[in-house]
Amino acid sequence: MDCDVKDIDLAEKGRARIEWAAAEMRVLGLIRERFEKEKPLDGIRIGACLHVTTETANLVRTLVAGGADVYLCASNPLSTQDDTAAALCEDDNVWVYAIKGEDNETYYRHLNAVLDKHPQVTMDDGCDLVSTLHKERPDQLAEVIGGTEETTTGVIRLRAMAHDGVLAYPVIAVNDANTKHMFDNRFGTGQSTIDGIVRATNLLLAGRTVVVCGYGMCGRGVASRARGLGARVIVTEVAPLNALEAVMEGFEVLPIREAARVGDIFVTVTGDTHVLAREHFEVMKDGAVVANSGHFDVEIDKEALADMAVEVRRVRDFVDEHRMPDGRRISLLAEGRLVNLGAAEGHPAAVMDMSFANQALAVEHLVKNRKDMDVAVHGVPADLDADVARLKLSSMGVEIDRLTSEQEQYLASWEQGT
Ligand SMILES: NC(=O)c1ccc[n+]([C@@H]2O[C@H](COP(=O)([O-])OP(=O)(O)OC[C@H]3O[C@@H](n4cnc5c(N)ncnc54)[C@H](O)[C@@H]3O)[C@@H](O)[C@H]2O)c1
Repeated sequence: MDCDVKDIDLAEKGRARIEWAAAEMRVLGLIRERFEKEKPLDGIRIGACLHVTTETANLVRTLVAGGADVYLCASNPLSTQDDTAAALCEDDNVWVYAIKGEDNETYYRHLNAVLDKHPQVTMDDGCDLVSTLHKERPDQLAEVIGGTEETTTGVIRLRAMAHDGVLAYPVIAVNDANTKHMFDNRFGTGQSTIDGIVRATNLLLAGRTVVVCGYGMCGRGVASRARGLGARVIVTEVAPLNALEAVMEGFEVLPIREAARVGDIFVTVTGDTHVLAREHFEVMKDGAVVANSGHFDVEIDKEALADMAVEVRRVRDFVDEHRMPDGRRISLLAEGRLVNLGAAEGHPAAVMDMSFANQALAVEHLVKNRKDMDVAVHGVPADLDADVARLKLSSMGVEIDRLTSEQEQYLASWEQGT
């Protein structure tokens, strides 16, 4: 194996942590048992660009159990867990190219190492693998059966590619499954973003003002979890409907130019660029902390922040304190990259169970239906999404009711009224 990992001797630690996560991933475990018997991915080369975490390791093991060869690189320079990368390389015959803290050049070298293996399926988180393949290796596109995409930002980029007529193969938008975005983005990002901020800073949230920029699936989770810890939460938005929902949930909604003056901790989760910019840093309080949990490190204009600072000091791991000319300090967490993956471990395994169950079933669906799928961005088939919800409930020991035949009839009829 020509892996490029930080230290192969970390494998033992990674192995134990991967098993710990596996215990929380019961739906994926069931799929893995079936894949072991049926081998639906026999001989398929999968190129995966994902956050290299213990949860991803369990997805990769499921794909390998299904008969696939998996080539894995990181979908963010800061999100790799080096022990997990080592264990996957040592134990599972997975080609891993990922090192936590790699620079941009290494990040793209690793991505290209995956593409050098000529994947037939791409599994992406943010669309960097797919866009590089389309831009730089058009000759390889015909070899690809299809792909899957994990996150909101990646799906937005794929839709733009389809709109521009450049997308060359079918891709399943795993993010669009209800059992993905309603849980992973909300409860996963909600908990792990707070976890990242607290691990990095050890600040008390109770009594502080937390500004959450963006009240989409992720923002809802971050805002509600920050409130749960006793913070006063302010939401900023550009979409009237989302802003209205935040108001009715009891959050204060303000334009960012006003929120910037009063916030203690800022979290961007918009998928947008320069949401926190120079004019906002100019008015922030001394001691303000800024963090991002959106996919790319563009939400906080960190170049402007660095440019304004007279001094930048790393005061703790993942905390860069920027001293302004007037003496105010603004701390940037995890270099403006996803704080939950940079400064903590990403989402808990129990929620990634559903996201990655969707990933595994989506790849199986692509391989099975390779002749019939249009070149387009597809949703996860509704029956697969429903299966994941059913299996998750049952793995949690939760029972629900069934419609009686009278109720089924009633719900399908129109004659009965007042
Ligand atoms: N940290 C993680 O682990 C994680 C997990 C899932 C998704 N993500 C990423 O988080 C980002 C958000 O994902 P989502 O699923 O919540 O998307 P979403 O589309 O549901 O929500 C984004 C919200 O941000 C708002 N917005 C856009 N520009 C804004 C601006 N300038 N100011 C204020 N609000 C603005 C939009 O109106 C929308 O309501 C994406 O980049 C996604 O890929 C990260």
